[in-house]
Amino acid sequence: MASILSPAPGNVGVVRSIDDKIYVGLRPLSTRTYVAVARGSKARPFAVVRASSEKEVSVKSSGLSIEECEAAAVAGKFPDPPPLYRPQGPKGTPVVQPLPLSRRPRRNRKSPALRAAFQETTLSPSNFVHPLFIHEGEEDVPIGAMPGCFRLGWRHGLLEEVYKARDVGVNSFVLFPKIPDALKSQTGDEAYNDNGLVPRAIRLLKDKYPDIVIYTDVALDPYSSDGHDGIVREDGVIMNDETVHQLCRQAVSQARAGADVVSPSDMMDGRILAIRMALDAEGFQDVSIMSYTAKYASAFYGPFREALDSNPRFGDKKTYQMNPANYREALVETEADEAEGADILLVKPGLPYLDIIRLLRDNSSLPIAAYQVSGEYSMIKAGGVLKMIDEEKVMMESLLCLRRAGADIILTYFARQAASVLCGMKGN
Ligand code: PBG
Repeated sequence: MASILSPAPGNVGVVRSIDDKIYVGLRPLSTRTYVAVARGSKARPFAVVRASSEKEVSVKSSGLSIEECEAAAVAGKFPDPPPLYRPQGPKGTPVVQPLPLSRRPRRNRKSPALRAAFQETTLSPSNFVHPLFIHEGEEDVPIGAMPGCFRLGWRHGLLEEVYKARDVGVNSFVLFPKIPDALKSQTGDEAYNDNGLVPRAIRLLKDKYPDIVIYTDVALDPYSSDGHDGIVREDGVIMNDETVHQLCRQAVSQARAGADVVSPSDMMDGRILAIRMALDAEGFQDVSIMSYTAKYASAFYGPFREALDSNPRFGDKKTYQMNPANYREALVETEADEAEGADILLVKPGLPYLDIIRLLRDNSSLPIAAYQVSGEYSMIKAGGVLKMIDEEKVMMESLLCLRRAGADIILTYFARQAASVLCGMKGN
């Protein structure tokens, strides 16, 4: 059976559908993989078609062509019913009476077609949001703790990365800036500089790719000389309402540059309502808010903080990020964010917090986002490099599991790699 590797319905633009006006045929790439070729074009193939690698049926086909089958049927020659012969187990297999089972769940897993028919959850590049690290430099700088990730030069590497991601159907991006120390301050004022790195990058991206969705991070940590998400009082307390004031300015500045979704990741109280009001007051009624609703004080953020050089200069983030031991508290945050007008609720980290994703999914009708954070990414990468696990399979499974738990969208550093796999274009 040949199947177009369109991973899920609604994923137009990834595996561009076969246009019969230009489609001329399939060109084999390997014994099982074919590419659809367009007429008169040297352009890249527009679809990858792969023959199923699994045996579908145990009964042998007679191998007749459709015409021969028809002719045989017209002539009254029908195939015999399948033989009653039962394939044997190996020598020594015990002979037993069949168990009297009214339910044998394995029946629905019998063949690839049945398994595909009953698959409850699907994964599509349209579910992914691709986090991108940017900096002022020209070069792309590899991030040691996150193999395969770079701080991208905002003028070059960023545009190229977005181009490649779009090519495999990823159209949503979230930007994280690496801010030079000289621009950091205790009140993080660079966060709302309209000509700062993030607003400039948004404008450039929107100019080049007007149809992409740009998410931004709203928090002070990349801009704070203290490395905290908020303003630090002299006694070390993170000031809530004063920080919210700065976050509103930051969100409005990002909206002004063309951001589609602003995403407060700071965990201050009351920031969703305040940001909603600030955006509306400036005429940005159409800009959405994705709230980091349940963001835990997690050790899984380590590699990210290295990437942005944003480690807190003292202490930790436990007075604002949630205690990993807590479950019910996520509902308190959910109720607040819903009431304050969030458009999307996010849970972070992802895989170790599947129960929280499910909790939010069952208690809110809003879309749910999961963030597969840097530490999760790096662990899978490291396991793959050391050949302890199959990186690609674990990557795909972990993403599928986040969807199964209830996430609509997934922020993941694997976005482009996973989308490439879904499009049948490995090793991208
Ligand atoms: C900061 C922010 C963090 C991440 C996203 N936004 C780090 C933190 O809270 O310290 C972490 C993402 C990751 O680890 O991939 N507002």
